[in-house]
Amino acid sequence: MRDPNPQPVLLKDYAPPPYLIDRVELDVDVREPWATVHARLAVRRNPGSKDTGRTLVLDGEHIELLSVAIDGRALAASEYKVDAQNLRLESVPDAFTLETRVRFDPWKNTRLEGFYATKDGLFTQCEAQGFRCITYFVDRPDVMAKYLVTLHADKERFPRLLANGNLVASGDEEGARHWARWEDPFPKPCYLYAMVAAKLDLLEGSFTTRSGKNALLQVYVEPGKVDQAGFTLHALKKAMQWDESVFGLELDLDRFMIVAVGDFNMGAMENKGLNIFNTKYVLARPDTATDMDYYLIDRVVAHEYFHNWTGNRVTCRDWFQLSLKEGLTVFRDQEYGADEYSRAVARIQDVRKLREVQFAEDAGPMAHPVRPDTYVEINNFYTPTVYDKGAEVVRMIHTIIGKAAFRRGMDLYFERHDGQAVTCDDFVRAMEDAAKVDLTQFRRWYSQSGTPVVACRGEYDATAQKYTLTVKQSCPPTAGQPEKLPFHIPMAVGLVAADGADMALRLEGEPRAQGTNRVLDVREAEQRFVFVDVPSMPVPSLLRGFSAPVVLRSDWSDADLTHLMAYDSDAFNRWEAGDVLATRIILAGVKAIQAGNVPEIPAAYIDAIGRVLVNAARDPAFAAECLALPAESFLAEQMDVADPDAIHVMRKRVIRILATRYRTRFEGAFRHFSVPGAYSPDAGAAGRRALRNAALAYLMELDDSTARALTFLEYRRAENMTDTMAALQCLANSSGAERERALGMFFEKWKDEALVVDKWFRVQATSELAGAIDRVQALLKHPAFTLANPNRARSLLFAFARANPVHFHAADGSGYRFVAEQVVALDALNPQIASGLARSFDRWKKYDAARQGHARAALESIRTRDALSNDVREVVDRALA
Ligand code: ARG
Ligand code: ZN
Repeated sequence: MRDPNPQPVLLKDYAPPPYLIDRVELDVDVREPWATVHARLAVRRNPGSKDTGRTLVLDGEHIELLSVAIDGRALAASEYKVDAQNLRLESVPDAFTLETRVRFDPWKNTRLEGFYATKDGLFTQCEAQGFRCITYFVDRPDVMAKYLVTLHADKERFPRLLANGNLVASGDEEGARHWARWEDPFPKPCYLYAMVAAKLDLLEGSFTTRSGKNALLQVYVEPGKVDQAGFTLHALKKAMQWDESVFGLELDLDRFMIVAVGDFNMGAMENKGLNIFNTKYVLARPDTATDMDYYLIDRVVAHEYFHNWTGNRVTCRDWFQLSLKEGLTVFRDQEYGADEYSRAVARIQDVRKLREVQFAEDAGPMAHPVRPDTYVEINNFYTPTVYDKGAEVVRMIHTIIGKAAFRRGMDLYFERHDGQAVTCDDFVRAMEDAAKVDLTQFRRWYSQSGTPVVACRGEYDATAQKYTLTVKQSCPPTAGQPEKLPFHIPMAVGLVAADGADMALRLEGEPRAQGTNRVLDVREAEQRFVFVDVPSMPVPSLLRGFSAPVVLRSDWSDADLTHLMAYDSDAFNRWEAGDVLATRIILAGVKAIQAGNVPEIPAAYIDAIGRVLVNAARDPAFAAECLALPAESFLAEQMDVADPDAIHVMRKRVIRILATRYRTRFEGAFRHFSVPGAYSPDAGAAGRRALRNAALAYLMELDDSTARALTFLEYRRAENMTDTMAALQCLANSSGAERERALGMFFEKWKDEALVVDKWFRVQATSELAGAIDRVQALLKHPAFTLANPNRARSLLFAFARANPVHFHAADGSGYRFVAEQVVALDALNPQIASGLARSFDRWKKYDAARQGHARAALESIRTRDALSNDVREVVDRALA
């Protein structure tokens, strides 16, 4: 039972823990229906605490206390207090051994937090506060201990017994059972604790670190799926290699394990030496996983591995500092992706996601700084802001101080803080000290929420040969933060001449030009930068590489944008110019539609897309990005009152006009960019497939019999899941008879492969055809559907609420009512997943009054339920505030 009236936790209330725990010995006995946990904790007063009381308060939830002893003496019930959240012991000694015995039923744990059962066995998830569901503990990351863990279970049902660190002993015991003892040599916070008792298959490998240590690598997967584990092992080795060569960071363990589980609340978890992953980020075979799946597996494997240093060796003092490890580790996995694939394409995809999701979060009721200062339920703060904006903040430091100083800063950070639980400020200070720069103003990125708006205006003075760039910054008010101070914004810029070449850049007062691409330090609310020796009127290329997470406004003409699309030396900005132009055209079209006029599409844009197709062979993956129009959700954010129907109609109209105009070129691209030979997920092959499938999607927008026949043929001949899904997705949006045939064939073929069945649900949940709600409601009753599995819930419900805007925002409110009902149903099983779904309502105030009325009613209908989790309550309360 949760606290019915939870108080917010405040950053300013942080105080060190009055007691520390240095050593933990756990004995875990699995005997259905119980897991019984006997804990021995070495407890001592914290010399760093000002608290002089003698009360030890331990956290514990969803567990039944069987006994308590101090230094071997069993306590009577009158000697402690226990309630649904805590165990309190008064007048404890300065140093002592605390023993507790508890039990709980992992088979009834549908929250998938703590220790829980799935079809293949038992698994843990402790971050953020799951360890308290396993044993009584001081469950906060600044309490770090060494662990010795013994697991006992039935040998036949649970042949694998795993925990963090090294296997030190194992054996059989009576009743056809066995045991294993694991010791982790590194002190760790309890959120990094993990154990597994399961039946799993194993793929092994090894890696020799650059200092010559040989490490055993293991990937555990459900029985029969080892043939889908190879890429994960390969990715792990690449990540290990990369961290050694880029950051000089080596594996510190003799053994590194990855365990895949099908029932998992998030992507993956970096438990020390025993990473536990959602199967979605482990299992891949060419016929079951798409190029994007492979790419994400690569990034997530790297992310969790990188946490071993950024997160585990140096961890967070408290949960407000979450971005210390997450922002930094996302930055690291982004850089890994950029090095392993295409830097420009990786950046485009990361920025698209940031702008679609994080900017919306920052503009809505859940807006919070990268380092939040308050929360009710910490699980609600594993957000795009903490992760992705946090990574942008680290990237800006990298941009400001440069690559070499950044590396020195990382080295200093580890030198100072290895083995400690620290703050975001400690990280910034290491960077400041290593680079000898002042990041005082920069720190506002950690404390101020909201997306800054940077407005640029350029003026060319032909006589003086000067180009003056005026930059104004502001930041809209956000929840709890009405006023903001100016940010320190690194703005990378270039000036592009009429012939397409970059101009040399010399600022007024400088002795000579300094390159053609430079970073301006924007610090004031309004600032001017005067470039001299500018021989002719340039087109400014602003915020190259998206050097800061801001909304950029500039007075470019359409012709300026097509010029940048053609010539900008910065690949990101070549793409960006097209994206800005497409956004402008679609939004103008939406206005025309609303006024009952016929929207127009400038010929210059159509010609520019024609050139993208003609030049596609230079970089097919990049061309595919240029062909992908801005998402409907992004477009909605650009309007004062979002009009999902007009956006949908106009966006499709642009696609159809381009498809009609360039039918031959799209057909040519579809044929030409085929990928012969054995499947490989590498950037080159994946890029060709991305382009060819983008071409197919354009053609299918015509939805005539020729296009349908081509797509259906493609669906049947496709030999990999990338091409299969591309075709199926087109057919799912088509009204032809091929739709039902393909969906039927697909399910029949893949009904035993859970991750592929998820794709089948998703492709239907996101179909734009009329009647989406009825189809989704029917799919809820499909025998393969279950709310209890997070991946399945995401594939149907989240897909509908997040990726099918035209139906989620149905004018009659049916989408809102449906999703609200599902939030309530999910909350009874799994609050973390339910609260994620509730976040689909974040932007309800962006819509017209009638839709707002429906959304408010839907939110109220959730709020009036009693027994709502803290997770959902916090989200709904903030949405309605
Ligand atoms: N630390 C994990 C990762 O980013 C994610 C944990 C998410 N936990 C949560 N309660 N939502 O790799
Ligand atoms: Zn992480």
